[in-house]
Amino acid sequence: MPTFRSPAKLNLFLHVLGKRPDGFHELASLFQAVNLFDFIEIHLAEADQFSCSDESLPLDQSNLVLKALNLFRQKSKKNFSVKIDLQKRIPTQAGLGGGSGNAATMLFALNQLTQHGASDQELSAWSQEIGSDIPFFFSHGTAYCTGRGEKVLDLPRLPETPLYLFKPPQGLSTPKVFANLNLPALEKRKPETLLQACYDSAPLYFNDLEAPAFSLLPELADLKLALLNSGFHTVQMSGTGTAFFCLGRPKDALPEHLLSSSLGYHNRAPGSWY
Ligand code: C5P
Repeated sequence: MPTFRSPAKLNLFLHVLGKRPDGFHELASLFQAVNLFDFIEIHLAEADQFSCSDESLPLDQSNLVLKALNLFRQKSKKNFSVKIDLQKRIPTQAGLGGGSGNAATMLFALNQLTQHGASDQELSAWSQEIGSDIPFFFSHGTAYCTGRGEKVLDLPRLPETPLYLFKPPQGLSTPKVFANLNLPALEKRKPETLLQACYDSAPLYFNDLEAPAFSLLPELADLKLALLNSGFHTVQMSGTGTAFFCLGRPKDALPEHLLSSSLGYHNRAPGSWY
């Protein structure tokens, strides 16, 4: 049975440029896929079936896996049924794009299974109807994303960097974090300069969504401090949180909430999935 890997993503930098009339925020962010995966087993069947290893996730139409299935049927105008099993490893409410990656992986897998022949560009364009972070996964794993996140510029892979991920038990909802943002207080930055710095081996990691997330959950600021004190040179929340990625070498015992160590950036080869 075909199993597809669905990766997590990090936002190496995330700058919020402003709020748009449609309520979304204009972003400039460097997204990077990492080798922490969910697994989606999928094959054609007599009737639709959907199971998931994480019992806390809804199995109804609010799940991005089923949203992607419906979107694919609607766009491809193909009639078929599938059996899907989702094995979750990426935590939810983490800012790691787990659900968005699942939706992208579903579209890629369905396109293959039904031999529909849509290009990655088409799948990416369809996917933005169901989530701002989904088109990123149709890049090759490193991309500069703008607009509400859906405008994706595929970039060359970055140098390898071992990284650690930490995830406290508390989660945060994406709209809540954006709603708590104090826009006038944000430092104005030039996105092109930030991007160039990443390829000049002098990256500036930052996330404008840390402040609104920390004010909603002050424990996050404590965790960041504990991680910095344990020796990492870079500790940053991903997306709207609450996961943190850490770069460098920890010198002492690690603070609690380690999700995974010895992870790294992960890119895909053209024509294949992650
Ligand atoms: O597109 P997505 O479903 O991921 O967005 C979820 C929510 O996050 C939006 O309804 C909006 O409140 C917020 N959001 C935002 N600006 C973005 C992306 C998301 O305000 N660029």
